[in-house]
Formats: sequence, structure tokens, C-alpha cells
Amino acid sequence: MACQKYLSGLLLLITSASGYTWPNPKLDELERLLYDQFGFNVPGILTSVLPCNSFVEFNGIANRSNAADWIRTAYHDMATHNVNDGTGGLDASIQFELDRPENAGDGFDNTIGFLTHGINRYVSVADIFALGAATAVEQCGGPKVPFRGGRIDATAAGAPGVPEPQDSLESHIASFAKQGFNQTEMITLVACGHTFGGVQHSAFPDTVPVPAGVDDIDATFDNTPFTFDNAVAAEYIHGTTNNPLVVGHNDTTNSDKRIFGSDHNAIMSLFASNADLFKSTCGGLFARMLDTVPSSVQLSEVIEPLPAKPASMLLRYTGDSTFNLTGLVRFYNMPESSSRTVKLIWADRTGKKDPSYSVELGHTPLMASHGLNDGPFTALWYSVGPITKNFTLLDEAAGISKFWFEIDEGDGSATRNEDQGGRGFALPDTIMVSATSCTDNAVSAMRLDVAVLTSAKPSRVYVRSEALGSISTPGGTGTTIKVIETDVPPSGNSSSNGLYDIWSVVLPFTAFTQTSSPTIELVAEVGGEELSTASFFPMQEFPHCA
Ligand code: HEM
Ligand SMILES: *[C@@H]1O[C@H](CO)[C@@H](O)[C@H](O)[C@H]1NC(C)=O
Ligand SMILES: *[C@@H]1O[C@H](CO)[C@@H](O)[C@H](O)[C@H]1NC(C)=O
Ligand SMILES: *[C@@H]1O[C@H](CO)[C@@H](O)[C@H](O)[C@H]1NC(C)=O
Ligand SMILES: *[C@@H]1O[C@H](CO)[C@@H](O)[C@H](O)[C@H]1NC(C)=O
Ligand SMILES: *[C@@H]1O[C@H](CO)[C@@H](O)[C@H](O)[C@H]1NC(C)=O
Ligand SMILES: *[C@@H]1O[C@H](CO)[C@@H](O)[C@H](O)[C@H]1NC(C)=O
Repeated sequence: MACQKYLSGLLLLITSASGYTWPNPKLDELERLLYDQFGFNVPGILTSVLPCNSFVEFNGIANRSNAADWIRTAYHDMATHNVNDGTGGLDASIQFELDRPENAGDGFDNTIGFLTHGINRYVSVADIFALGAATAVEQCGGPKVPFRGGRIDATAAGAPGVPEPQDSLESHIASFAKQGFNQTEMITLVACGHTFGGVQHSAFPDTVPVPAGVDDIDATFDNTPFTFDNAVAAEYIHGTTNNPLVVGHNDTTNSDKRIFGSDHNAIMSLFASNADLFKSTCGGLFARMLDTVPSSVQLSEVIEPLPAKPASMLLRYTGDSTFNLTGLVRFYNMPESSSRTVKLIWADRTGKKDPSYSVELGHTPLMASHGLNDGPFTALWYSVGPITKNFTLLDEAAGISKFWFEIDEGDGSATRNEDQGGRGFALPDTIMVSATSCTDNAVSAMRLDVAVLTSAKPSRVYVRSEALGSISTPGGTGTTIKVIETDVPPSGNSSSNGLYDIWSVVLPFTAFTQTSSPTIELVAEVGGEELSTASFFPMQEFPHCA
């Protein structure tokens, strides 16, 4: 299985096939959380797991870490899956299940409190839990965990069923079978998880005693609690382990001892002597753990980094016979080069090309990001337009339908295109924000003027934004995201050449300031199809109303 994964990874590189086509707001956002890790224009929430011993509660508390809490949270949320009826799985139901003895410990609260800052209408709570666990594993020495998106949040508690230390081996085998893992996989997944963190006295007083005069300790599963490695197996096999679930004074709660030894140590012996095998096996099992979702949920394909990825591509109607195009493009796995030139080339509204539909993109060495994805990578960012102004003016009469990139390394080699296999990157000019939009602090609202291609005759124009909500139950409070649609009526005004009509609405700030990185989109319904702008945060972009 590990071998198959490797092979398919290789094929991907060879054909340089990418997982999906831009734009796809949901996958674009998940891809960004996965691959925009450090440096220019990165979201930062998940990589704040580094350094791997950082802990949200109070810095430097011995043996606790966000990394361990994020991984344990994903497991406990998933562990109530039932393969027989397809219920449960990674669905964020743990938010409503915190009063259960099977969810003892404050690590869940820590995780929920921190990670829900990363949600928006494209990233569910369950997706951010899965992303948090995958990122913790990968950034802290572990394998790449192939990531799929699209988890849907539960709105109430599900059935209980997380295994507990005092349960029998038979019950653990049955519990993992119900989750979809056989006995070998159970042993492995427990070891993969218990290479991080430990057991806290305050949550498990029968398992971890405290020395006299000490309030609380967190006794670690191995000597490297902040790092993914095979020490959990090696120490166990070599008889040097202090794992409180193996050598605990109370044999009733020595669940790791019963589980690890349940195949006469066959798989743990292999892992103790073969760190690479442990790592690759855990990569596959962590992925399966994160992909265990209610059967009604359809996950996306594995999200691979797009080789060329536009970001924040925004057309602005200037009212001056031009569109003002701003935005960035990220080239994945591209080294810095001073001889390279990158051009954005576009086709007009009718799909026609013209030598004048081209602009050289801006870049400085500071426009770089980097991180880990099966090894280190560098990505370079280019600005849509020369760096001296960072915008490009397009002719309103000609318009635009799609664009692509032409890369010239400046070393005599042939130029190459990044065009999504010939499809190009779609950029409809049917709807865009007008530069006359403005913010009015006095009434805490924005006037959004929207330019809509008159000939498109849309049946509806609206603003899509989002609101946070919460559901309170005795077991805990869950965060919800609601999509808000605000209709935009025509204003009666048109552009001087009659090509565009202006539609206009006043939107309260509260319609787009509820999540940590709030954005809106402008959407036009044209002949049963939805055409939309990129997501943008409008307050930054427009002046105060006169
Ligand atoms: C029979 C199955 C399992 C049992 C009985 C069990 C039990 C426990 C217990 C008692 C703790 C201590 C929690 C605390 O003190 O707050 C713990 C911690 C942890 N478990 Fe498990 N576990 C099991 C399976 C797993 C699996 C499959 C994973 C992930 C793949 C996992 C990941 C973790 C992690 C990362 C921690 C450390 C949390 C921290 O340090 O805050 N566990 N486990
Ligand atoms: C569990 O499944 C794996 C395949 O994922 C297989 O190699 C292994 O032999 C199975 N173990 C048991 C105990 O059935
Ligand atoms: C940290 O873990 C080690 C190893 O289990 C243990 O000896 C120590 O008491 C723990 N420290 C604290 C403060 O929890
Ligand atoms: C051992 O743990 C079990 C389960 O938590 C508990 O019921 C029992 O009282 C404990 N025994 C001792 C001696 O602490
Ligand atoms: C284009 O938009 C950018 C970003 O808002 C702005 O700085 C620039 O002045 C605009 N240019 C024109 C000609 O409207
Ligand atoms: C264009 O964007 C780059 C990267 O953010 C920045 O360094 C540069 O100063 C910008 N140029 C202008 C004129 O704002
Ligand atoms: C429509 O035109 C009138 C007259 O020029 C102007 O006062 C008003 O602000 C315009 N409204 C919009 C939404 O553009």
C-alpha cells in the first residue's frame, strides 16, 4: 500500500497532472492552508504548531503540546465511526461530546478553541481538525499525510465509542473493527498516535500518580514526545519504555501494553527496527483515519499543490473604459532566478487572443514562501502587473474571459506555458466590483457598487458572505458557519458606453467581519449558471464614502 502511494506520487510528478482546476474556492482555500506555509502571503494558522513543543495554554508547560492535542482530537472525533451503519467519523461532533468520560482531558478544548479560528464558509470545523492533525504530523517529523477535503460538521453529539484505557483487549479489537481498522492496523495506529504526547495525572489519576508536593504531571509515551519517530516502538521492544499505558502501576489501564503485545509483538518489533517502515505505514493510516467520515460525506480527491495558482485575482471597474486587474500568482517548486520573466496573457471576452493582451509580472526575492511537503519546497509569487504598481489595466470594450502564464527562464530554453493543460484560468468579466464602492464608518456599512455586463441580463445579482453561529448542548458548544446571501438590486445607472449596468447595495460590516479571515464574493446568475468574482475582503479595498 505504501508502495502504491509512492508509485502514484511518482506518476503525478511525471505527468505533472494537478488535482483540480482553478478556480475552485473550497479547494483553493484548503490547498492554501496545506501548502502556503511560511513566508510571503501565508495564512499561518496551522504552522503555528511549530515549534513542535508549543502549547496554547501557557508556554513551556512540560510535555504538553498543541501537536499532540490536535492529533488526539482528530482521533477521538473519528473514533465513533461505525462502518456498519456509516454513522460518525471525522465530523466535529466531538464539540458536543466533551462531557463524556471517554473524552477526558483538556486537550480537546484547547484544540477547538485554537483551530476554529481557521474556519470559513469553505473550511469546515471537521476539515480544520483534519488539517491540524495532518500538519502536526508532517511538520513534527512525520510522514506526508495525503489530504482530502469536504468534511461536513455534525450539529449534535453522535453515538459514544472512543476506546478507553481500562477496556479489555477484546473490546479494543472490536472497537477498532467498528472504526474500520483490523488488529494490525489498531496496533499501528495507536503507536502512530502515541509517538506524541503523554498521559496527564489530572485527567487520568488512576494511571499517572504524582510525586508528593506536585499537582500535576504529563507522563510521556516515549522520550521524544514532540517528534514523530519510532521511539515509542523501540523503547517498548527494548524494555526501556516509561509509557504510562505500558508500565503503569495499575495494570487495568495498561492498554498500550495489551494492544502492542496482541500479535506477540510482531508489528512493534518491525517498527522498532525500521523507522522508515513505521513512518510510511503511519502516513497511510493517518490518512485513512482523517478520511473516515460519515458515509453521506463525499471527500475530494487528494489535494496536491497547483503548479501555478492565482490568488486574489480581482477585476475592478474603473468607469474609465478600463478594468483594473490586481492579484498574485504562486509558482510551486520554483527556484529564484533573476533571468526569468513571467507574462500574464489573456483572451478577450469572445475568447480572441491579441499580441497586446500581455503584461510582464512583478517579483522581488521577498515574494517567496517555503515549507515541507514530502520534503522542502520553495514557491515564488508574482504580482499581476509590474512591481512598481501591482495592477494591470484591461480594455473594457475588449474584456477578458481567461488568462494563462508564459514563463521564459532567460537561459535560451524554450518558453513554457502554465495554462492548466490548455484550459487556461477562467476569469469572467460578467460581474466585478466597481471602484466607486466605499465604506461608511458612520453607519458601519459598505456601499458595494457592482458592475454587471448589460448583455448578460442576469436573473439575480447577490453578495455571498458568511456568519458564525453556535449550537450549545450539555456536552459542549459547537461552532457553525452560515452562508449569507444579500441580493443586490440594479441602481438604474449604467456606464457611459452602456456596456455595464451598476447594481448597488449597502452591506453592514457585520456581514463580512465574523470569521478570522472574512471575505465576500459577488455572484451573478446568468442562464442558470453562477458567475462569481474571487473572494475578497472589501473593507481594505475601498475608500471612505464622500
Ligand atoms: C485503545 C486506543 C487508545 C487509548 C486507550 C488511548 C488512550 C490515551 C490516553 C489515556 C491518553 C492521555 C490523554 C490525556 O492525558 O489528556 C492519550 C493521549 C494521546 N493519544 Fe491516545 N489512546 C488510544 C488511541 C490513540 C490513537 C489511535 C491516537 C492517534 C492516532 C491517539 C493519540 C493520542 C495522542 C497524540 C495523545 C497525547 C495527547 C497529549 O499529550 O495531550 N491515541 N491516549
Ligand atoms: C490488516 O490489514 C492489512 C492490510 O491493510 C493486512 O496486511 C493485515 O494482514 C491485516 N491484519 C489482520 C490481523 O487481519
Ligand atoms: C514529562 O515526562 C517525563 C517522562 O515520562 C516524566 O518523567 C516527567 O515527570 C514529565 N514532566 C512533567 C512536568 O509532566
Ligand atoms: C486501576 O484502574 C481502574 C480503572 O480506572 C480503577 O477502577 C482501579 O481502582 C485502579 N486500581 C488502583 C489500585 O488504583
Ligand atoms: C488599481 O487598483 C489598485 C489596488 O486597489 C490601486 O492601488 C490602483 O490605484 C488602481 N489603479 C487604477 C488606475 O484604478
Ligand atoms: C507590489 O507588491 C510587492 C509585494 O507585496 C511589494 O513589495 C511592492 O512594494 C508593491 N509595489 C507597490 C508599488 O505597492
Ligand atoms: C447613480 O448616478 C447618480 C447621478 O450621477 C449618482 O449620484 C449616484 O451615486 C449613482 N449611484 C450609483 C450606485 O452609482
